[in-house]
Amino acid sequence: APSDDALFALPKAELHLHIEGTLEPDLAFELAARNEIPLPYASVDELERHYDFSDLQSFLDLYYATMDVLRTEADFAELTRRYLAKASSQGLRHVELFFDPQAHTARGVPIETVIDGIGAALDDAERDLGISSGLILSFLRDQPVDDADRTLSAALGRTDRIIGVGLDSAEVGYPPSLFEGVYARARAEGLHVVAHAGEEGPPEYIRQALDLLGAERIDHGIRAIEDPELVARLASEGIALTMCPLSNVRLRTIDTLGEHPLRRLDAAGVRVTVNSDDPAYFGGYVGDNFVAVRDALGVTSDEARRFARTSFETSFAPDERKRELL
Ligand code: HPA
Ligand code: ZN
Repeated sequence: APSDDALFALPKAELHLHIEGTLEPDLAFELAARNEIPLPYASVDELERHYDFSDLQSFLDLYYATMDVLRTEADFAELTRRYLAKASSQGLRHVELFFDPQAHTARGVPIETVIDGIGAALDDAERDLGISSGLILSFLRDQPVDDADRTLSAALGRTDRIIGVGLDSAEVGYPPSLFEGVYARARAEGLHVVAHAGEEGPPEYIRQALDLLGAERIDHGIRAIEDPELVARLASEGIALTMCPLSNVRLRTIDTLGEHPLRRLDAAGVRVTVNSDDPAYFGGYVGDNFVAVRDALGVTSDEARRFARTSFETSFAPDERKRELL
């Protein structure tokens, strides 16, 4: 079996990471003090005691509340800088980050503040750490479709930074079909398109993401395992799943990591990658996720290398960068 060190050192890409989900408790308290925003917790320990989630929504409630401390361009830059330092120490050479603009604009933080702050840290990481990157604008699916449409319009002034769009937040009851028009517009603008589907929602949502949104990758897709026909389709069409094993356990999508379908999907020919989702909340960064699936599923060195290779191949890095990474 591969050692922790080998798994951390393995060069890889992260394709499923919410930058707001990298807000560690210590930085949350620092920013709360700096911006004079009261947090409803007395200490880091007390905040962490609330990281005992029962489902996706119980996590999202805390995630949206805590990100209220992020106010200035410098805050977003610092958040991103700290993530990238961790990323570098866990073998990441390329990262595609989701951000949730509506969660910031709804509380008066302009989208430019968010994009420019994150962007400054991404530029520094390219120069200082050799990490290439791209930003994926994620729509909140539990907010009105009109709001997503306006958010896309506002972001079109920054398409130098934005490589694609995604779909996240509460899944059940908010099927991909709602966003068909917004996604058509994003595709017409030349943006890549991905969507969270089949995390808590049924396999049908994965089908809709493919058929109605034109999703190039599926984020999570864990419930595809319930539908053999869909598994065969994902395999034959080469659609990658950006899986997040520690997240799935922490949000109780599965009871134990041993039940995770990562390896079964790989064996069925589906392209799978290992990612961290919201590492500050779910107990680990991408290297930690590799270690966890080695322990729980017996992932071998060869498999880990294949997952890492798939992360480069199914990334949206330009072809010349892909050649360097592979
Ligand atoms: N699922 C859906 N939406 C999210 C998540 C997630 O795991 N993390 C941040 N937004
Ligand atoms: Zn996610």
